[in-house]
Amino acid sequence: MLSDPYVPALRDALRHADFTVDQVGALLGADAHRALMRNETAPAYRATADGSPVSTLTRLFSLQRPVSREAADRALPGLVDALVGADMLAASGEDVRAAVDIRPYGDEDHDWWVVCDLTPGLDGGGRTVTRDHVLGISEASSSLAQLTIRSEIGSALDLGAGCGVQALHLASHARRVVATDVNQRALEMCRLTGALNEVAYDVRDGSLFDPVAGETYDLIATNPPFVVSPPTEERYVYRDSGFSGDDVVRRIVEGAQAHLNPGGWCQILANWIHLDGQPWTERIASWIEPTGLDAWVLQREVADLPTYVEMWLADAGQKGTPDYVRQYDAWLDWFEDQGIEGIGFGWLCLRNSGRSTPTLNLEEWPYEIEQPLGPHVAAWGARADGLAALDDDQLLGARLVHAEDVVQETFGPVGAEDPEYLMVRLQRGVRRARQVDTVEAGLIGACDGELQLGQLLDALAQLLGREPGELRMTYLPQVRELIADGFLTFP
Ligand SMILES: C[S@@+](CC[C@H](N)C(=O)[O-])C[C@H]1O[C@@H](n2cnc3c(N)ncnc32)[C@H](O)[C@@H]1O
Repeated sequence: MLSDPYVPALRDALRHADFTVDQVGALLGADAHRALMRNETAPAYRATADGSPVSTLTRLFSLQRPVSREAADRALPGLVDALVGADMLAASGEDVRAAVDIRPYGDEDHDWWVVCDLTPGLDGGGRTVTRDHVLGISEASSSLAQLTIRSEIGSALDLGAGCGVQALHLASHARRVVATDVNQRALEMCRLTGALNEVAYDVRDGSLFDPVAGETYDLIATNPPFVVSPPTEERYVYRDSGFSGDDVVRRIVEGAQAHLNPGGWCQILANWIHLDGQPWTERIASWIEPTGLDAWVLQREVADLPTYVEMWLADAGQKGTPDYVRQYDAWLDWFEDQGIEGIGFGWLCLRNSGRSTPTLNLEEWPYEIEQPLGPHVAAWGARADGLAALDDDQLLGARLVHAEDVVQETFGPVGAEDPEYLMVRLQRGVRRARQVDTVEAGLIGACDGELQLGQLLDALAQLLGREPGELRMTYLPQVRELIADGFLTFP
């Protein structure tokens, strides 16, 4: 990778060219940009014919097309030889081409560049990747970035940092960030990503929590190599942990507690095994319960085994190779031997609440959600704290408010006087829905922070001709659920 003395010049060149997400998007236009997202470069090539530095850099890195040495010199003044020497560009005759990717990336407040390996499989070309391939920004990277809670904190750990994408985000709200990996190329790229963006984080070599032994953090964010694959001699380090089955996730879950400050979060993107005859919730809960951490686990989808095998063999460029069918079969054999019947994908948000009775919420939620989810995860934790702090009498004295985004839906035969059933639905976050009865619906509507919960329940009892004590007892558990799920909150 490029040595330090050249990094400021590279940063200046990229800045001077305005090689940013917005500028490249504007240059390409929506259609060519979408085509590039589908790994098709022809429309983008046509949109980058003006010879400007931003067009040259886009052709060079994003489209992986050769550019003339002269154009490269204009876009990267005084840097081409150094980049060739650092194996980041390759020279051939009068042309140069990219050997690694420098990819514009950003959020609402930042323009960054991420150094990673070239995206395989552009324009239908072979998707060959090396075993030490360093992923760029993947869908999983973006999911984790959106899931992560972005409050101002003291310290954060990016476990399995790869190109450094999560570390960049973390450094925008954590005073100290440590980024770890086991892949030497990833470590080099992660360092260069940080230096190029003038973002200070500490990059460390080592597996899982080894490089941070004895240290604790306010936030751990990790998109680990979670693919559940048969053990082989060789592995793709960006996706295969080398641990058996979904053990990498279990190890992270079990190890997190020792590395979290009080109130700290560990947010994990993961795959997990569905074993024959065992509910997935039971299996994941058996990892979490001994840690004493609070947990909100969302299973977003479940892949059947053939779909899963096809996805990951294609990811490694195996599809169409002479060995494809044999490998496909070997994966299925191994799944069968292990008693695996499907693979779940989802998110684990663990929190060191320090309570003796932790809050666990493991659920399947395959529906469309609102991103970023991070603020809603933080709010879930705050509501769990609020609930745990109140006994039933205190809860009856609380002045609750309903979520601003809650709406009511009624279902029943058209024209009927009374609906068959009522639903309440949140418009934000996971967009949760829940079937309710008229008492719950009335209560949610009435919770505006004015009256105490007990007063509201008594008023409803009077209105409906029910016994107040009975109504309180019946609905307190429901109220706790409505708070946990975010329909009602503490003001
Ligand atoms: C799926 S990539 C995630 C990269 C990046 N954090 C992101 O969000 O896009 C997983 C990363 O974990 C690294 N890794 C693999 N085994 C590891 C281990 N035992 N401990 C720490 N990191 C590991 C890989 O080298 C790879 O960079």
